[in-house]
Amino acid sequence: MIRKILVTSALPYANGAIHLGHLVEYIQTDIWTRFQKMRGHECWYVCADDTHGTPIMLRAEKEGITPEALIARVHAEHSRDFAGFHVAFDNYHTTHSDETRHYSEDIYAKLKAAGLIEVRSIEQYYDPVKNMFLPDRFIKGECPKCGAKDQYGDACESCGAAYAPTELKNPYSAVSGAQPVLKSSDHYFFKLSDPRCQEFLRRATREVCKAQPEAINKLQEWLGEPGENKLTDWDISRDAPYFGFEIPGAPGKFFYVWLDAPIGYMGSFKNFCGKKGLDFDEFWGKESKAELYHFIGKDILYFHALFWPAELEHAGYRIPSSVFAHGFLTVDGAKMSKSRGTFITAESYLTQGLNPEWLRYYFAAKLNGTMEDIDLNLDDFTQRVNSDLVGKYINIASRAAGFIAKRFDGKLLHDHLGERFHAELPGIKQAAEEIAGYYEGRDTARALRRVMALADQINQYVDRNQPWVLAKQEGQEARLHEVCTLLINAFRLLTIYLKPVLPKLAQRAEEFLNVAPLHWADAGHLLPPAHLINTYEHLMQRIDPKQIEALIAANRESLEPTATPAAATAVAPAPTIEPHSPQRHAQHQQATEDKAQGQAVPAIQHISIDDFAKVDLRIARIADAQHVEGADKLIRLTLDLGAGGTRNVFAGIKSAYDPALLVGRLTVMVANLAPRKMKFGMSEGMVLAASDDKAPGLFLLSPDSGAQPGMKVK
Ligand code: MSP
Ligand code: ZN
Repeated sequence: MIRKILVTSALPYANGAIHLGHLVEYIQTDIWTRFQKMRGHECWYVCADDTHGTPIMLRAEKEGITPEALIARVHAEHSRDFAGFHVAFDNYHTTHSDETRHYSEDIYAKLKAAGLIEVRSIEQYYDPVKNMFLPDRFIKGECPKCGAKDQYGDACESCGAAYAPTELKNPYSAVSGAQPVLKSSDHYFFKLSDPRCQEFLRRATREVCKAQPEAINKLQEWLGEPGENKLTDWDISRDAPYFGFEIPGAPGKFFYVWLDAPIGYMGSFKNFCGKKGLDFDEFWGKESKAELYHFIGKDILYFHALFWPAELEHAGYRIPSSVFAHGFLTVDGAKMSKSRGTFITAESYLTQGLNPEWLRYYFAAKLNGTMEDIDLNLDDFTQRVNSDLVGKYINIASRAAGFIAKRFDGKLLHDHLGERFHAELPGIKQAAEEIAGYYEGRDTARALRRVMALADQINQYVDRNQPWVLAKQEGQEARLHEVCTLLINAFRLLTIYLKPVLPKLAQRAEEFLNVAPLHWADAGHLLPPAHLINTYEHLMQRIDPKQIEALIAANRESLEPTATPAAATAVAPAPTIEPHSPQRHAQHQQATEDKAQGQAVPAIQHISIDDFAKVDLRIARIADAQHVEGADKLIRLTLDLGAGGTRNVFAGIKSAYDPALLVGRLTVMVANLAPRKMKFGMSEGMVLAASDDKAPGLFLLSPDSGAQPGMKVK
């Protein structure tokens, strides 16, 4: 039976870059939809940017552009990043669309007609300078519990207390700094406390979360005991100025971003129906027989398992078949961190030249369909990918392909091998349905463990049969041909099993095998007798641990003084800098050695803009300059980087400058150079100076007036 399935991932906010945390979800969803498509089902995967709300409005304002321009730019960036990780949406739309507006208005009108919308006046903090109501996150002040300063309006990051913004002491607006005032205004509420909603949610959300008992527990907690009526009404309006959809019949009132965001799933699908000629109602109508799944992070379960089904139900639409929540990503056991360099953007991963399928494989190997957090352990990542993908899977093809090419003109054995295959490599073909079951249940960890166990079995078969020995023995030609043919067939089966996770690698394997794109059902048969395969070319590189170091270095927020020498080695050597520094000397020597070995050193060695971007150049104020006892070339500089703190740098500029005259002036420094231990102490960067072998003198760089300490030079 061909199933009709509509799948979504959460819509990423249009005010930030996609990072590895996001990718957990998009990769998980992509694997699942690719799997369903390989099974021959009608499965569509849609998503969109979540474009509305105050943060996006303010961000655009800060950049001096319209919100429309901001979301258009981010849409292009997000699309690029997803494509880079082979996340293959059937449609990637935006919530700022006619379709989403249409369904937002429609759902709102139906909820209103059902008597589930109520207008109430509420009092909230208002910024009298910006003339806007402030979302909780834009109000700061002192924690009412512990007194910590600069805490957000909803919770304290210092002691963890949760509170209302009105409880903050000495509140101020994070937008303008002004002291907010309390002001009342009419808000529109969706009446979740209505008995119809309560009764529905108790029934339906168990259904919607049935795949995940942990989620049901959470919901139970939110809903409370029967009769407890714990759910309060949901405020779905925001006052102008707001970037979003104005509520029909309510001038100056806008739908809150979380009202139209999930409706964006419908909007994106409607848009897709227009392109594809599909019937929207077949998927969203009350009588729909199609399956509808939302992949989300555990942080937004509340919206998807409570508000969203209640809205759909009472507006006359079908509700999701299930919500699938995943956990959060940690890197090396901790929350992603900019200062440690583990807040890694999708873009930097790709521009650093790392293979997206390494990450797809690793995430898949960790995801088991529950809400548990998943950890990207960077050592384990390298080890796992290298040993599983290169050492086990790819290895099978490379061990057999050469003999087929050299000894048998690229042709597999003439005989039908069904029986032999079963006898010599038992279970490989039969595993197809078991593995499919794991994919279906989103337990990709288990699916991949099973596939790697098969790969072990196949490699042991190679070791037992030793094709390289057969190749040298008289009269073993036929056996060699048979063994290698069986191996190529085994490799093809594993390719099918891995294809949802590794679509590009599978495509290259298909080219090598000289077969049409593989479907799951193809696991039911072997390659035809005398099938011709193509020349084997290495299918995947190993991860070099240096690449991981470079990735971390590239993502480390350069102003945090946490650089470890090992991790910083990947930072591109800074262009010519301190004339007498040991670095410069080493570079010079390296160049000379290259020449001595006869390697041409090009006159201009181009670097990419990304290489240049690795060098974090900053304006620094020389806060202090001192002679260094016992050093005839060095001056010790204390550099002020504004918000970036201060740095201690030894500069070889004594021949040209009197320390006393340097104090107070601005210059340019390399702020992300690995700290160096020198005889006189740590040097934490470099200042830039001009010099020439032909002319005397040494000249520190200075910015034009107006530059401030800490500003980026680019
Ligand atoms: N815009 C909302 C979703 C609206 S859906 C109608 C949103 N956006 S988000 O950009 O913050 O997150 C998008 C998805 O990525 C969410 O499902 C979220 O849980 C997931 N993740 C964001 N950071 C994550 C990790 N560090 N780890 C795993 N998933 C994470 O929420
Ligand atoms: Zn506190």
